[in-house]
Amino acid sequence: MIPQRSRREPSHDELEAAARAIRTGRLVVFPTETVYGLGADALNAAAVRGIFAAKGRPVDNPLIVHLESATLLDTVAADAARVAHELFARFAPGPFTLVVRANDSVPREVTAGLATVAVRVPRHPVARALLAACGRPIAAPSANRSGEPSPTTVDMARRSLGSTVDVYLDGGACEVGVESTVAAIAEGAVTILRPGAVTAEQIAAALPGIDVGYADANAARGDASPSPGLRHRHYQPLATVIVCDPADARRCSVAVAHALRGDGGSAAVIGLAAAVDAALDAGPGVPAAGDALVLRASDPAEYARNLYRWFHELDAAGVTRIVALLPPAVGIGRAVRDRLTRAGERTRGNRCG
Ligand code: TXA
Ligand code: MG
Repeated sequence: MIPQRSRREPSHDELEAAARAIRTGRLVVFPTETVYGLGADALNAAAVRGIFAAKGRPVDNPLIVHLESATLLDTVAADAARVAHELFARFAPGPFTLVVRANDSVPREVTAGLATVAVRVPRHPVARALLAACGRPIAAPSANRSGEPSPTTVDMARRSLGSTVDVYLDGGACEVGVESTVAAIAEGAVTILRPGAVTAEQIAAALPGIDVGYADANAARGDASPSPGLRHRHYQPLATVIVCDPADARRCSVAVAHALRGDGGSAAVIGLAAAVDAALDAGPGVPAAGDALVLRASDPAEYARNLYRWFHELDAAGVTRIVALLPPAVGIGRAVRDRLTRAGERTRGNRCG
């Protein structure tokens, strides 16, 4: 396993250099509370094209614009609805992205030609310091080559993007570990296009009287997808991910037993500790420890925080099969299930993310 570096705040000079890089059209990897971002000046079309080139990202997948403060919403949005301002008042700064109508200042490279733009105010202090120092909105997808899991440490980002990016800011390991909730407003209702740490229940509680729901994950893969990124392949480690729902106890125990017995150390099991232990106990003749790596999270938030780092470390360790036990679909568990399910899909086609 790769040792975790301790958190080191960038110096004033490092932040100034990164801000200068953004202002001069270059790319900067920076930490947010969700995952690391690959940032460029959102209003500079050539700089934004550099993001797509560095990631190998399909150009039909639009980017999130990061703002220093929710009060700047109208600098990129056209006639944002009252509900949009209310949502930002409640959930910004934080792991929450809202799709609003874009104004003319936003290049089509950012929106992938859509009339809308996704906006987020990150709460990580280094992201906020960078946004404040450069004085520009920053367009940033996750800082990984397209299709790979998002990086949650600066080392993961560096390993993925290497010298295609010249400025890397280290803000330690990301607190949330999975990407922000992406929500859109249509006809007065709020639809969550991508689940994250901010849940439908929290949004509904903040906006009494407004309908809040999750987009149908399967519909999201069709051509009429409201969130283009969901059409593409996402979040996949090199290892094959076999997803099991502990509700199906027998299937889990068989999959875990198979992982532990076979493959001479090239399989791993990940999940909530209770689910992993139940599957181990129930397994038909499972060897106590086996050759497989068994990684346990004590709660869904820890599962989210560790998920992509585990993928990364298991790939580095040469693991070729990961049996992933799904957490319950409540709170951030819903986002973990979503990412695991996508990681488990081995469909051919576009890779992105
Ligand atoms: O936590 C996060 O959101 C991270 C950090 C860096 O902020 N960013 C991130 O970006 O995950 P990315 O590009 O990997 O994912 C952005 C998602 C994609 O699914 C994209 O399709 C969707 O947001 N999106 C962006 N603009 C959109 C728009 N105008 N309408 C609908 N979906 C949009
Ligand atoms: Mg991504």
